[in-house]
Amino acid sequence: MKVTVVGAGAVGATCADNIARKAICDELVLVDIKEGVAEGKAMDLMQTAQIEGFDTKIIGSTNDYSKTAGSTVAVITSGIPRKPGMTREELIGINAGIVKTVTQNLLQYSPDVIIIVISNPMDTMTYLALKSSGIPKNRIIGMGGALDSARFRYYLCKAMDCSPNDLQTTVIGGHGDTTMIPLTRLATYCGTPAANYLDEAALKKVAADTMIGGATLTGLLGTSAWYAPGAAGGSLVEAIIRDEKKLIPCCVYLEGEYGLNDICIGVPVIIGKNGWEKIIDYKLNDEEKAAMNKSAEAVRSMNGVLSTLSI
Ligand code: 2OP
Repeated sequence: MKVTVVGAGAVGATCADNIARKAICDELVLVDIKEGVAEGKAMDLMQTAQIEGFDTKIIGSTNDYSKTAGSTVAVITSGIPRKPGMTREELIGINAGIVKTVTQNLLQYSPDVIIIVISNPMDTMTYLALKSSGIPKNRIIGMGGALDSARFRYYLCKAMDCSPNDLQTTVIGGHGDTTMIPLTRLATYCGTPAANYLDEAALKKVAADTMIGGATLTGLLGTSAWYAPGAAGGSLVEAIIRDEKKLIPCCVYLEGEYGLNDICIGVPVIIGKNGWEKIIDYKLNDEEKAAMNKSAEAVRSMNGVLSTLSI
């Protein structure tokens, strides 16, 4: 089993590290456009093999996609990250061309590959990868909801002073500071509603902090975060390779589900060996449905920008 990670920047290298430590594939290929960077990071990672106890062979490649041939899963992290004060949406001009080219290159050598998109603006990049490739919709997955739901859990466990492992949290909608929807009504602590433990104001604060979770880190780090985005990407690769049938909120193409059509946006999906295999209907209430429609409008308007770019 072979996995490719495109982009050997902080997110890509962290994702590769995460995948290697799980020891879930025989071969892991790291690709980057910058001469020597992928080779260097692959070599550095390989030197952790004995320490971490994995036997995955990690190979680096400067833009030679023939090395990725026969990949089962590929993760696209390429493109520029945001700087403090920037939104993810502002990256579209540069990242759209990169994501389109990377998708074509991957498919040239791995026609059956399942693609996980991390590059931003993630919902629009997922839509672009799908539309420009024409591959079956279940093989294109945007990572956003997996990451945002983990950030929701982080803020909720801080507010409740409990173990993150005892919480279930879901973020649907777009992967943007104003478009994501932390479903506070459905957040649970060992199966009991989080609302039993926090008042409305506290839950609202958790949701608000979650929505700007990425921006908060960008402000602190001077660039986008990488540990949690890389780990979220790694968890999706694992769910596919192990055919886990795990329920993870991800950005996928909708054809009527959640009342939406012709859009890639975050919803709860089952992830297994076929990519995303099924969309789960959480039966949103009217307020949540309205938030989802508003989020979809914003994602759609960003998708509209694609036609104005010469890519
Ligand atoms: C984030 O939210 C990289 O979009 C990613 O950190």
